Amino acid sequence: MRILIIGSGGREHAIAWAFHHSATPTELFIAPGNGGTDAIGKNVSLEASDHDAVNRFVSENDVDLVVIGPEQPLVDGLADALRDRDTPVVGPSAAAAQLEGSKAFSKAFMERHGIPTAAFRSFERGELEDALAFVRSEGAPIVVKASGLAAGKGAIVCETLPDAEQAVQDLLGDGKLGDAASTVVIESFMEGEEASLFVLTDGSEYVLLPTAQDHKRIGEGDTGPNTGGMGAYAPAPVMTEHQIQLAVDRVVEPTLRGMADEGHPYQGILYVGLMITDEGPKVVEYNCRLGDPETQVVLPMLSCDVVQLFHALATGSLGDVDVSMHEGASACVVMASEGYPGSYEKGKQIEGLDDASARDQVEVFHAGTRRTDSGWDTSGGRVLAVSARGRDLKETLDRAYAGVSDISFEGATWRRDIGHRGLERG
Ligand code: GLY
Repeated sequence: MRILIIGSGGREHAIAWAFHHSATPTELFIAPGNGGTDAIGKNVSLEASDHDAVNRFVSENDVDLVVIGPEQPLVDGLADALRDRDTPVVGPSAAAAQLEGSKAFSKAFMERHGIPTAAFRSFERGELEDALAFVRSEGAPIVVKASGLAAGKGAIVCETLPDAEQAVQDLLGDGKLGDAASTVVIESFMEGEEASLFVLTDGSEYVLLPTAQDHKRIGEGDTGPNTGGMGAYAPAPVMTEHQIQLAVDRVVEPTLRGMADEGHPYQGILYVGLMITDEGPKVVEYNCRLGDPETQVVLPMLSCDVVQLFHALATGSLGDVDVSMHEGASACVVMASEGYPGSYEKGKQIEGLDDASARDQVEVFHAGTRRTDSGWDTSGGRVLAVSARGRDLKETLDRAYAGVSDISFEGATWRRDIGHRGLERG
């Protein structure tokens, strides 16, 4: 099967890796890809925003399946452009991707369908004073979110009222995140533990992937600024069978039914970010794609044929495939450039990749790497993720950290406490 994967991160390397190890023979194209995808497929230079160019590439190269990794091309309608030409594609329509592309839409949608989430109000530009009055009446802690896509920088958890006033001023008053924050959602702070639930749906059937938990903050103990994600593990012990069932009954099924009823049937991967509260799971946010770095732990847990699974999703035959999973756990540790998520230098030589990859049950997924004449250099903030599998979370983390210890580059930064909540739950 000839497959085009859109994206350039660790998530896309993990998707390409899962396809490469599938029993189904594949030829992989990754646009634009990264140093890791180059080793198992062909990196191609294609602008995801140029829908005609993507359609032309698909037709000239007899591509059988397109998988769209990141959110922006989905929100921009790339999946629609491909489906219009009858190309099987993993990814929702632009209308369905609003669940991630517009928090004002998704919050109002949840309200319409009685889906549990934090209480909220939305404010437009020009309503700065009303928004400030609202946070003053609600008090802290409180969460201020840009409604639009903001590359992981759009949600500000404010511990104090002055922080909340500043966040509202920054987003709504000073236009700090530009158009992404032309509407701002202000919502109550939810107490609990977060988990990620991934739903694959072909528009009528759906299946769940293993649950996961990521680590969004740069610092140990979940401190410091938010990042794209510094590590993850699967399954997430907080997602017991009971919590999964509650999430299915109260969130997944009403969401899929609600989107279909509103004329935007969801076909693709729905990533539900949940807060597990005393009252059960509540939605923190929806994403219209797989998570990064959760993909680097979720796909290695699948023992079924991932190509067949994704193809079935894209062709409306998900009911014909079984999802099977390995026993045990998987985890990954992201190694980042010094300074990330702020500014950082590129071009640092990376050593030890082969040693880490040679370890039992360890995979290195590239994100910001670049091949050079003498080996590999860093080329991004999140450089790579060392992912491992094991019989339990402890063994898995030991393996991942052993892999990390093999790898070095100047200024390498990583968290030493990935999986701490899972380990505490035993
Ligand atoms: N790991 C968070 C995300 O992919 O949005």
